[in-house]
Amino acid sequence: MQEKQPLVELKDINKYFPVGKDKLHVLKNLNLTIHKGEFIMIMGKSGSGKTTLMNIIGFLDRVSDGSYIFNEQDVSQLSENKKSEFRNEFFGFIFQQFFLIKSLNVIQNVKLPCIYERKKNTKEQNDIAQKYLTLVGLESKAKSKVTELSGGQQQRVAIARALVNDPLLIMADEPTGALDSETGTDIMNMLQELNQQGKTIVMVTHDEDLTRYATRVIRMKDGSFLEKGAAL
Ligand SMILES: Nc1ncnc2c1ncn2[C@@H]1O[C@H](COP(=O)(O)OP(=O)(O)O)[C@@H](O)[C@H]1O
Ligand SMILES: [Mg+2]
Repeated sequence: MQEKQPLVELKDINKYFPVGKDKLHVLKNLNLTIHKGEFIMIMGKSGSGKTTLMNIIGFLDRVSDGSYIFNEQDVSQLSENKKSEFRNEFFGFIFQQFFLIKSLNVIQNVKLPCIYERKKNTKEQNDIAQKYLTLVGLESKAKSKVTELSGGQQQRVAIARALVNDPLLIMADEPTGALDSETGTDIMNMLQELNQQGKTIVMVTHDEDLTRYATRVIRMKDGSFLEKGAAL
């Protein structure tokens, strides 16, 4: 059995937002280690700090103090350019509202992270995008407009886009929040299968029923973790 490898290591992190002359203490002395292969669910009421934490993990925001090591790299030592490059390479993002680009067709949306990455030629980009469209069951929709697809199909396109650069971590913020429960179950089954194939996933949800898909659940309240399990 291989040792558990840490992917995300947050130590004693705090996050403050300036509000007028004051500062709002949004994340309070959090410790979190995410190992490769985990499927973590972050739960908590609106305003508890879930999105702020996701933004920090995904290099979209920085800690006010404390340390963040991602895949053995000290994130505070990275330039903004390096962080953008790594964000595209290491993370796949899935959102409640899909955030597909309506002026592009399905396969063009899936290819976007490859285009930013600039490492593959056009044929390689098309081949890999087609491979992930097949994985999510939409191989026949490559040339369709995204607006012709149902919500569940659009979220699958977003999943294919999140996977196309073979990221180390999938970040999903309420991925089933805009879907009916049956379609949401399809999406959850797909995420679970990806996790079982080895993908590390962090997902935010309000839906208690979905915790059965997780390998670990972290509950937040007012910027703190409620369970000691978070520090494992
Ligand atoms: N950029 C910001 N500036 C000031 N306050 C913010 C900012 N972003 C979030 N907050 C505040 O931080 C707290 C946590 O927000 P957030 O992380 O979005 O919570 P959640 O995702 O759990 O609903 C809230 O009180 C929110 O108003
Ligand atoms: Mg949020």
